[in-house]
Amino acid sequence: MKKDVEVYLKEKRIFSPSKELVENSNVKKWMDKQNIKDYDALLKKSQDIEWFWGEVAKDLISIGDYEKVLDWKLPYAKWFTGAKYNIVQDALDRHKDSDKIAYIFEGEPGEVENTTYKQLYGEVCKLANALKELGVKKGERVGIYLPMIVQLPVAMLACAKIGAIHSVVFSGFSAKAFQDRMIDCEAKVVITCDSFYRNGKTVPLKKQTDEALEKVDCVEKVIVYQRTKEEVSWNKNKDLWWHDFVEKQEMECETEKTDANDTLFFLYTSGTTGKPKGIIHAHAGYALGISLTLKWVFDLKENDVWWCAADIGWITGHSYIVYAPLILGVTSLMYEGAPVCPQPDRWWELIAKHKVSVLYTSPTAIRLFTRYGEEYPQKHDLSSLRLLGSVGEPINPEAWMWYYKYIGNEKCQIMDTWWQTETGSHVIAPLPITDLKPGSATKPLPGFSAAIFNEKGKEVENGGGNLVLLKPWPGMLRGIYKEPERYQKTYWDQFKNVYSAGDIARQDKDGYFWIQGRSDDVLSVAGHRVGNSEIESALVSHPSVAEAAVIGKPHPIKGESITAYVIVKKGIKLNDALKEELRNHVAEEIGKIVKPQEVLFVSDLPKTRSGKIMRRIIKAKALGEEVGDLSTLANPEAVEEIGNAK
Ligand code: WTA
Repeated sequence: MKKDVEVYLKEKRIFSPSKELVENSNVKKWMDKQNIKDYDALLKKSQDIEWFWGEVAKDLISIGDYEKVLDWKLPYAKWFTGAKYNIVQDALDRHKDSDKIAYIFEGEPGEVENTTYKQLYGEVCKLANALKELGVKKGERVGIYLPMIVQLPVAMLACAKIGAIHSVVFSGFSAKAFQDRMIDCEAKVVITCDSFYRNGKTVPLKKQTDEALEKVDCVEKVIVYQRTKEEVSWNKNKDLWWHDFVEKQEMECETEKTDANDTLFFLYTSGTTGKPKGIIHAHAGYALGISLTLKWVFDLKENDVWWCAADIGWITGHSYIVYAPLILGVTSLMYEGAPVCPQPDRWWELIAKHKVSVLYTSPTAIRLFTRYGEEYPQKHDLSSLRLLGSVGEPINPEAWMWYYKYIGNEKCQIMDTWWQTETGSHVIAPLPITDLKPGSATKPLPGFSAAIFNEKGKEVENGGGNLVLLKPWPGMLRGIYKEPERYQKTYWDQFKNVYSAGDIARQDKDGYFWIQGRSDDVLSVAGHRVGNSEIESALVSHPSVAEAAVIGKPHPIKGESITAYVIVKKGIKLNDALKEELRNHVAEEIGKIVKPQEVLFVSDLPKTRSGKIMRRIIKAKALGEEVGDLSTLANPEAVEEIGNAK
C-alpha cells in the first residue's frame, strides 16, 4: 500500500474579484434569475445535477425534446436521451446569416484575414458536400492533419455536419504518430495542406502525410488545402486539391440529424505509457459542458475578442477555439505561428493590435515569457485585456504572479482551469465571483463534484491524495475507441464507482483544490510522498529561475534523492553558489526533507508538444536507462542535454 501524499507549500495570497466584475458577470445574472444568493449556495444547489444541467441547457443549446437529462449506467453516461441533436446546429447553422466575425486569423508571416459566421457557414457546407461526394457516411471517420488555419475548424465542422467522426492529429506530430492514429481510427478520408509556417520556416505536411499513408489501406482520398503554394508530390488516384474539388461545391448542405449521444469526434491522448487512447466525445453533452464553462468561467460577452492560444490539435483547442466560442457566437483570434517569432513580443503585439479582451494560455508559455523578461510585454498596450486564463499544468504561484502583474496589469483575474481530454470541459476552475489563490484552480464548477481520495479510497478533506470525480458530467468521455476494458481499468477500477483522474491534488481548509501533477510524478523521499510540482514551484519562486523539473533517483537510505534541472532567467550567472542557494531555498520554502541533492543547469527541458514537462524521460536519461520513443516530444534534443547536464 502506498503512503498518502504530503503537502508542504503554503500559499497565503488572496485576490478577490472587483465588484464590477462580479455584478456584470454572466454567472451572477443566472444566479439572480434563479434566486441563488451566493457562490456557496450556487455550488450546493447545482449538486442536483439533473436539475442543474437541464436548466442551463435551455439558454445554451437547442436540444429540443428529450426523455431524460441523464442516463447513468456506470461507467457510461448518456445525456439528453432520445433527443436528436447535432452540435453544428448551434455552432454554425444558427449564425448562418450573421456578419459578425467568427475568426480573426493572423498567419505567422503577418497577413490578417477575417472570416464572418456567414462565410464560415458557406465554407463548411462546401467541404461537407465534398465529403459526401467522396462517399463519407454518418459514423465514418475522417482524419484531419492541419495547422492553425481557419480550414481546420471548417474541416471539423464539415465532418460534424454530415454526422461523420473527425479525428484531428496535431500538425506538430510526426508522420509515424499520424499513421498510427489513422490506422487505429480507420479513416476513410484525410484532410491536410501542402505546408505551413512555423518559426520562420515551413513544415512540409503533405510530405509527412504521404509518408504516413504509404502503408495505410483504409484512406481512400486526401483533400489538400494550399497554404504556402510550395511544391508537393501528387498521387492522381488519391489526392484532391481543396481549391478544385471543394471550391466548386454548393454553399448549402443539410445538417445530419444525429442522435444527441452519437459520437462527434475521437481525440488521441498519449499518456506517459502505452499506445495512445482514442478518447470518444459525443454531440449534446459535450456541447453543453463546453458552452456553459466558457460562458461562465471566461464570462464572454457580445463584444469580447477571445484568444485561446492553444493548438486545435489538443482538447483545449477543440473545445475552446472551435466548438464553444462558435456556440456562444463570439469573435476569436487565431494565430498560426510560434509565440516568439520573429521576436519575443509577438503575442503582446497581437493582443494590442486585435484588442484581445480575454487570453487563455498555458503555464509553459508563461514561463517561456518570464525567461525573456517583462520588458517585452511592457512595450505594448495590453489594456484591452480584462480576464486571463491558464490550463495544462499546475501554474507555479510565481509564474501566476508574473502573469497577473505584467500581462494583466494587476486588474485581470486569472482563471486557472483544471481539466483533461477526457473531461471535455473545465471541471475545477474559478468563476468571476471566486476569490483566487495563486496556484489553485479553486473549486469544482457548479454541476461538478470532485474529491481527494487516499490510497484506501477514503475521502481526505484537508490534505493530499488522488483526485477523483464523484458524479458524471455532460462533457465526459464516452469511452476509448475499441478498448472498453482499458476504459474501465484506466478510470474506474482504482476506486469503486468514481472517476480517477490520475492526478494528485490536495484540498485546503477552504475547500480549494491544489493540483500537484500526475500521480506517476510523485517522489518518495525518506518515507514521504511529495508531488514533483511542489518542489518545482519552490524553485520557480526563486528570482533567478524560469523553469524547473525535478526527478527522484534511487537512494539507499531515503528511497529517493532529488535532482533538480533548472533553467535560469536571461543574464543570470551559473555557478556553484547559485546551486547551493537554490537547494537552501527549497529547504526553506518546503522543508529540509525535500532539499535537492543536486541542482543541474540546462537550457531546455524535454516537453510534450503540448508543453508538459516529460519527467519520465528526464528520469530515464538521468539514470542511464532506455529513454524509449521520443517522437511525441517537441524538443528531443533537450534529452541529450539532460545526459550532459552539470
Ligand atoms: C494537467 C488539458 C494543473 C493534469 C486540458 C491533467 C493541469 C492533464 C491543469 C490533462 C491545471 C491540466 N492545473 N494541472 N489547471 N490543467 N492539467 O488531456 O495533469 O492535455 O490530468 O488536457 O493536464 O491534460 P490534457
